[in-house]
Amino acid sequence: MKSISHICCIGAGYVGGPTMSVIAQKCPHITVTVVDINEKRIAAWNDENFDNLPIYEPGLADVVKEARGRNLFFTTEVDAAIDKADMIFISVNTPTKTYGKGKGMAADLKYIELCARQIARVSTTDKIVVEKSTLPVRTAETLTSILHNTGNGVHFEILSNPEFLAEGTAVQDLLNPDRILIGGDNTPEGQEAKDALTSVYANWIDRDRILQTNVWSSELSKLTANAFLAQRVSSINSISELCEETGADVNEVARAIGTDSRVGSKFLKASVGFGGSCFQKDILNLVYIAKSYGLDKVADYWEQVIIMNDHQKKRFAEKMIASMYNTVAGKKIVLFGWAFKKDTNDTRESAAIYVTDYLLDEQAEIVVYDPKVKEEQIYADLDYLNTRSEEENRRLVTVVSSPEEATKDAHAVAVLTEWDEFTTYNWETIYNNMLKPAFLFDGRKILDSSAMKEIGFKHFAIGE
Ligand code: NAD
Ligand code: UGA
Repeated sequence: MKSISHICCIGAGYVGGPTMSVIAQKCPHITVTVVDINEKRIAAWNDENFDNLPIYEPGLADVVKEARGRNLFFTTEVDAAIDKADMIFISVNTPTKTYGKGKGMAADLKYIELCARQIARVSTTDKIVVEKSTLPVRTAETLTSILHNTGNGVHFEILSNPEFLAEGTAVQDLLNPDRILIGGDNTPEGQEAKDALTSVYANWIDRDRILQTNVWSSELSKLTANAFLAQRVSSINSISELCEETGADVNEVARAIGTDSRVGSKFLKASVGFGGSCFQKDILNLVYIAKSYGLDKVADYWEQVIIMNDHQKKRFAEKMIASMYNTVAGKKIVLFGWAFKKDTNDTRESAAIYVTDYLLDEQAEIVVYDPKVKEEQIYADLDYLNTRSEEENRRLVTVVSSPEEATKDAHAVAVLTEWDEFTTYNWETIYNNMLKPAFLFDGRKILDSSAMKEIGFKHFAIGE
């Protein structure tokens, strides 16, 4: 079997960075080089101060500290790293297309194709190319077509090895995954490549948790996994609205159904709506693929997950506005949390962005506090919406670093991310700081409702 001594990973983002750091930590005999065209990102990965790594993930700094400079390297020298490697992971971004055919739905594969062309151009020795990015089913066909037509005699074997880590728990997920999925051709060369990648993971993961499939099953399983997970959140969120009308409590309902082992208890937490870079993009991609095969009923079925999620974000903002006597113009509203979930500084598709947009439409004055998200990121997220000018965003939204101080003379506080620290605040002091009646909207249902009501808040929690 082919043994792997040099790995190159193209893309030093939320997946490439942590995944390669763990591979390097667990496989000291393999040299792992992570490359990116983003110089600032690579510089941050190489920063002497481990607090400045470009990604915040619990436990990640320790892993990088152990391996960086030993067998883990971050560089912008893409060509050299590609040529030296016997295995290349492609871990670049695959956003939703913003132009042309499939705009707003299909995955934009231009970064993937660029990688394939670059690998084809610079390789002088045989390589295993691994799709780590989440890709539409049958993308490997495109890679094969580019890589098998170089005419330079170099042989490429293509594998699909989707990543299932969740942000905020990435290191734990990588160290102890439910499964590793490896898809490849059922030819002798394909089998050899699958076994070579299996042996990399087998350095710390039991072999019975490493699944081998054909390429198409592997590619489609990743989209399906995200669709099923997002569907659970939309399902419980749909029930949260019904709870609010009927006097049922969504946490109690979630517990009652989750104790059925066929349903399971995870991923049933009602929220202001799911965010993150992938759920929406991957479902839209699934919907687009189904439509492209003429499977309209399949497409409609999955599209409902997104429709429900958009509804949840909007109805939360509308609930805030309606509760505050249908007018929030000039009112100071403090948002606790901007990240799309706790324990990450990632804000992509965060519900907070959309809730803020609705509130700004009503001319509210917004103050944001998030323990890990930087001010420039919050403004960048709002500017990206293109709803109003950059000047307006900066005039109407203030970002603060002291949460309790921010609530002085506020009309309302809304909890939009489930950061643990929010439950430790002195909510009595916060209440005393605020204008009365003091409104509290808990979009994550993390605060004790009866305690909040006892303090005096006009309190609303999702699904209650
Ligand atoms: P990201 O945007 O954080 O990182 C991608 C990186 O690739 C960027 O730094 C970009 O500069 C770099 N890049 C793009 N084109 C390049 C090129 N030609 N050469 C060198 N570098 C290039 O993205 P991410 O969150 O790491 O996601 C990457 C892929 O993994 C996506 O397909 C995503 O769907 C999938 N995924 C993401 C997660 C997650 O939690 N974020 C989890 C599982 C799977
Ligand atoms: C998700 C999947 O969990 C990963 O397996 C997958 O690899 C990844 O997408 C990906 O492909 O990018 P991630 O988006 O990082 O991971 O985080 P999740 O924990 O799945 O949360 C996604 C969103 O759903 C967050 O906004 C979270 O707050 C929300 N959520 C999650 C709920 O509202 N309720 C829940 O019960 C669970």
